[in-house]
Amino acid sequence: MFLNLRDFEAVARERLGPGAYAYYAAASLDEVTLRENELAFARRRLRPRVLVDVSALDTATTLLGTPVAVPFGVAPTAVHALAHADGECATARAAAAAGAMFCASTMSSRSLEEIAQACDGPRWFQLYPQDNAGPRTEALVRRAAAAGYSAIVLTVDLAAPARREPELRLGWMFSEQPSGNLASAVGADDVPPMRFSWRDLAWLRGVSPLPVVLKGIMTAEDGRLAVDHGAAAVWVSNHGGRQLDRVPASIDVLEEVVAAVAGRAEVYLDGGVRRGTDVVTALALGARAVFVGRPMIYALAAAAEAGVALALQLLADETRNAMALLGTPDVPSITRAHVI
Ligand code: FNR
Ligand code: LAC
Repeated sequence: MFLNLRDFEAVARERLGPGAYAYYAAASLDEVTLRENELAFARRRLRPRVLVDVSALDTATTLLGTPVAVPFGVAPTAVHALAHADGECATARAAAAAGAMFCASTMSSRSLEEIAQACDGPRWFQLYPQDNAGPRTEALVRRAAAAGYSAIVLTVDLAAPARREPELRLGWMFSEQPSGNLASAVGADDVPPMRFSWRDLAWLRGVSPLPVVLKGIMTAEDGRLAVDHGAAAVWVSNHGGRQLDRVPASIDVLEEVVAAVAGRAEVYLDGGVRRGTDVVTALALGARAVFVGRPMIYALAAAAEAGVALALQLLADETRNAMALLGTPDVPSITRAHVI
């Protein structure tokens, strides 16, 4: 029985081959950050207010002006066809039905146009520069804008690929996976360290008609640089522990980034979000929304589109319940005073 987001993993593990499961589950080196992402949420304590009328509970908000029904979305994760033949089309359809933001990865199995056609929900495109500030990167940005994606989410924490040993032990190669957006297989195992840097953001903003979100910010310094370089939003993330191991849990650096950004951009968070109580914790600490990675692909592997729909419904139910018990009937009423 699927009662919560964690329940999908065991079924997914049975259905996926060992290589695909290792790819989804793994994190880098000793997986310290992977564990810490969830543990840090568990260490936080909530401060409920009572006798607040919560009869008209409302989870709706906006993300860069786009209305969404819930303050959480689907994080960009690669190659969903490993989990289900419909790939990202199924995941995106479930997100659209839930009114949740769907962020499509550059490394999607399906092309960004196919995903857009499959769903008419709110959607963003996650960008991995292909040739730094070159024509192949620009082409992806232009295709995303033409296909109705409303923001470019530039992932900035993959300056080099990290080592995930469970995959190495199995000899499983991400680079052999077919991609819907790129001419050949994804090839991320062979990419040289990224040359894309702060000075290229002006170029990106020049070629992109869409607002730019920087995903993978972990410090106040970079949060400040992001807004100084015109980012419309900052996405606090350690890539689910898959890049530099032993960075802190994302929830533990959220506040310093929120303070540095000082209201000049929206702030989101991902990493270890598994419960409605996690959602309200992140919102209390200043995130406008959170994103969920692994549980969505496990739900897709376990029970196809219906699995993702159920996962999103469970998280929405838990979020509503947490808001009712916290005495916060809508998103703006969740404040710093609600969490320790
Ligand atoms: C990811 N993530 C990711 N991020 C990104 O910007 N582009 C991508 O293509 C991918 N691909 C990807 C594949 C897999 C299998 C995982 C697990 C993760 C990172 C993702 O967007 C997000 O930051 C984390 O997954 C959040 O952590 P949780 O929710 O998995 O704990
Ligand atoms: C990963 C890359 C694709 O985490 O972002 O697998």
